[in-house]
Amino acid sequence: MTPTLISKINLFNGQEVQLQGWAYNFRSSGKIFFLQLRDGSARVQIVYSKADVSEETWAALESLRLESSVRVLGRVKEDSRAPSGFELDGIGLEIVALATDEFPIGKKDHGPDFLLDERHLWLRSDKQWAIQRVRNQIINSTYAYFAENDYVKFDTPILTPTSCEGTTELFEMDYFDLGKAYLSQSGQLYLEAGIMSLGRAFDFGPVFRAEKSKTRRHLTEFWMMDAEAAFVEHEGNMQVQEGLICRIVKDVLANCQHELKVLERDTKPLEAIQAPFVHMTHQAAIAKLRELGSDIGDMDDLGADDETILTQQFDRPIFIEKYPAAVKAFYMKRDPLNPEFVLNNDLLAPEGYGEIIGGSQREDDYETLLARMNEHNLAIEPFQWYLDLRKYGSVPHSGFGYGLERITAWMCGLQHIRETIPFPRLINRLTP
Ligand code: 4AD
Ligand code: MG
Repeated sequence: MTPTLISKINLFNGQEVQLQGWAYNFRSSGKIFFLQLRDGSARVQIVYSKADVSEETWAALESLRLESSVRVLGRVKEDSRAPSGFELDGIGLEIVALATDEFPIGKKDHGPDFLLDERHLWLRSDKQWAIQRVRNQIINSTYAYFAENDYVKFDTPILTPTSCEGTTELFEMDYFDLGKAYLSQSGQLYLEAGIMSLGRAFDFGPVFRAEKSKTRRHLTEFWMMDAEAAFVEHEGNMQVQEGLICRIVKDVLANCQHELKVLERDTKPLEAIQAPFVHMTHQAAIAKLRELGSDIGDMDDLGADDETILTQQFDRPIFIEKYPAAVKAFYMKRDPLNPEFVLNNDLLAPEGYGEIIGGSQREDDYETLLARMNEHNLAIEPFQWYLDLRKYGSVPHSGFGYGLERITAWMCGLQHIRETIPFPRLINRLTP
């Protein structure tokens, strides 16, 4: 018999099926044995009656330990009390591998450090399972959205000779006879080369930042999606971001209802996410924050707390536009109407989540860009290729990057982003 996924047993009502997975939980009355089986696709209860199964099957059931791997033979039946609407009458049980130790993660509450030490096992629990599935939906929606909008996936390098987002958070290493190499902070600069060939492109991969701060929003290794498009200016850039975020939220609500329920995520705030998003200049944001009691200065960057306060004022994401050039990266194009500011945006997610996207129109004039790089004290030679892009048919162009873990935390309603990536890397954590 071909094994079936638990998520597909509704197709086999009344029939015998074989399932394979792990014993998530069980209890026995002595005569009836209730087994909770999970196989990655879903979870289901199998009810065995001592009177109806062979002695071997009953003995196997009684020998079970949590998280043992098993094959189950049973008959599917509808049951309105079951979360999926189905359960199985147990017929047979074959143990694939009996767990040799007590599973360290029990049903009681554990502290975050213990759970992170046991991350390789913690991933099996319901909520962690749900988070990874929501993350996967966000990835799938991102690929779909860009495919539908004629973007080409363009794989940017991880080992790089320069920084993209400033030098204070770079991981560096010796690179053979060529001096230092750095782990990429964002594929953006390479993507700018890509769009001069492909028009529209995106990358998606791990990036690295030696963040010295311990916050609930920062990892040292995280997944970034950068998107870039030729002939798109500041306004158009924000439209692409709005479309992408609306698509992700819509798909998560459509396809991850069960996962959101497992996570006890209130879905009402997500259902409120619709275009148009709120737009606010940095200047207006500063004024608003002052009105709310902050003493933030005119030309200050927004801190995490400022973002949280702003997001609590609205039920949808907020574009904060046109930051002071002094607090942003060298490649951002100045606002021609007000050259102390740049044509950029951060996108803040509601409910206190804050920045999920950073984007901007890029400086496309050779001499201006060169001057900016000098102002930022960047060595020109390793960036010559980037400057070259402004020599051969430069065009107005814009792009943005999102942090996958930030969006996942928001969708799942999590306090800390460490649970959104399978194996989090933090300033004080490199294992497992
Ligand atoms: O705002 P950032 O630094 O923008 C860039 O790197 C641009 N080069 C992107 C581009 O224009 N193509 O980072 C983009 C996003 C942030 O908005 C945030 O969501 C996430 O990456 N991010 C982090 N996520 C987790 N941990 C960290 N340490 C992060 N730093 C940034
Ligand atoms: Mg940013």
